[in-house]
Amino acid sequence: MNDELQKLINNLIQIEHVSTTLYLTMSAYMGRLNLTGMAHWLRLQSEEERTHMLKLIDYVVDKDGTVKLNNIPAQPSDFGTPLETFQKVLAHEQFVTNSYRRV
Ligand SMILES: [Fe+2]
Repeated sequence: MNDELQKLINNLIQIEHVSTTLYLTMSAYMGRLNLTGMAHWLRLQSEEERTHMLKLIDYVVDKDGTVKLNNIPAQPSDFGTPLETFQKVLAHEQFVTNSYRRV
């Protein structure tokens, strides 16, 4: 695997890693607000982002590349109102989509 491609995919792995953690944290926050449906939905999104991360990791390994997992930033423990939380989800999804478009 060439270095440039490996670097690009490792960056996407990092983004998916942050995504799964962000949504897991948001799920816990919704749980704290007793919004169990929203908590469940965000948990599912977290699991989906983890599958994206694992697929990318498996691809790099399959191509004999090197996976680099970097530190991920600590996530907030409060995301505001439910509406504000989901606005943050939307903004993050837009960021992720744009990150893939740049590859
Ligand atoms: Fe994803």
